[in-house]
Amino acid sequence: MVNAWTARECQCEKDRLEKLNVQKLFAELHVPKRYQGKTIQNFDQSLLKGRGYDMAVRYVERFDEIRHENTNGLAFIGPPGTGKTHLAYAILNALVPRVRSAICGSVPDLMEMLRPKSDRELGEQRLHALKTSELVVLDDLGAEQESSWVTERLFMILNARYNEQLPTIITSNVELGVLERIPGWGRVGSRITEMCHAVLCDGADHRKLKKTKNREG
Ligand SMILES: Nc1ncnc2c1ncn2[C@@H]1O[C@H](COP(=O)(O)OP(=O)(O)OP(=O)(O)O)[C@@H](O)[C@H]1O
Ligand SMILES: [Mg+2]
Repeated sequence: MVNAWTARECQCEKDRLEKLNVQKLFAELHVPKRYQGKTIQNFDQSLLKGRGYDMAVRYVERFDEIRHENTNGLAFIGPPGTGKTHLAYAILNALVPRVRSAICGSVPDLMEMLRPKSDRELGEQRLHALKTSELVVLDDLGAEQESSWVTERLFMILNARYNEQLPTIITSNVELGVLERIPGWGRVGSRITEMCHAVLCDGADHRKLKKTKNREG
């Protein structure tokens, strides 16, 4: 007979195996060195115009409620150097201990990992993981627009996550309205609009600011 305790133990073991499996499938996809120590605490909120900082804080604090809502993702949109990837990794770093499995990477890198080269099965397993992992961060969405193969893969991932209401965090330089007008992207953009709270990130390019400060100091 399966009692409540045994069922909980089975679920824990399933979760552990899922986490291990995702780690194995995406072993090449480590958190880039630059973003390893990024947290919400070391983000300077005074430099960012918009609600990006507040949204990130609230998202981490209320994730257990938000994850069950219809719109349970975030889309950080704005020009280069405004801290979109920093905030996305800060959220990921805070939530990793609280989710079964999480995958985070730049869209061009993730697409490269899905391309069926020698190991087609590995590509399919990775695609399945991107569709079903509890949390996925797609950094730099819209960086690859031309290939219909990429558009199709993105649609498969986002449609599966949309249907199962799985939290997805996106960063992009391209406004959602503009994304939707890219040929073939209408259905991708439409789903993101419902899945994610759009968070406009505006302000100075932090990369250039750091350089100017270094020169002056
Ligand atoms: N408000 C901030 N406080 C502290 N560090 C910041 C802030 N904004 C950006 N940075 C730092 O500046 C660098 C660039 O930020 P990030 O990579 O997040 O920009 P981005 O908005 O994703 O740019 P892109 O659109 O070009 O990808 C990173 O090292 C990041 O940690
Ligand atoms: Mg970025």
